[in-house]
Amino acid sequence: MELIRWDEELELHLPAMDAQHRHLVELLNELYDEWATGTRREHLQPLVERLTECMRDHLSQEEELMRTYGYPGLEAHQQQHAFLNEELARWMQDFHAGRSLLSGQSVRLLKDWLGEHINVADREMADYLHRMDVRHE
Ligand SMILES: [Fe+2]
Ligand SMILES: [Fe+2]
Repeated sequence: MELIRWDEELELHLPAMDAQHRHLVELLNELYDEWATGTRREHLQPLVERLTECMRDHLSQEEELMRTYGYPGLEAHQQQHAFLNEELARWMQDFHAGRSLLSGQSVRLLKDWLGEHINVADREMADYLHRMDVRHE
C-alpha cells in the first residue's frame, strides 16, 4: 500500500530535486509497506538507514543550492530540515538501542512532514530559483 502517492503536484520542475523527492517518497512507501506487514526489525533497519542517508544527502544538496543562489529564506528552511534530521536520528538511535519498532505515528508524521515540506517550503524555494532562471538543478 502506498503511504504517499507521487503525483505531478509534487513536482517543482527542478529535475535533480524532483528525482530525489521521488526517490524519498519511494523509500518511505517501501518502509511503510514493510512495517505495515509486520516485517521484523532487523529487516527494517537497513531501510531506515537508507532513508536517513538519502534524506541527509538531499537536504544538504538543497541547502547548497539555496546558498549558491542566495535564497533569502535559507535559514528558516534549514530549521525545517534540522527538525527532520533530528527525527530520523531518533529513529536510528531507537533501532541501535534495540528499542521499539517504528510506530505508525512516527511513519505518518514523516509522511505528512515530507508532503507538506515539498509543497510549501520547497515550492517557495523552487519559485525563487525559477525567478533566478535556474533550470538545471
Ligand atoms: Fe526537498
Ligand atoms: Fe527542503
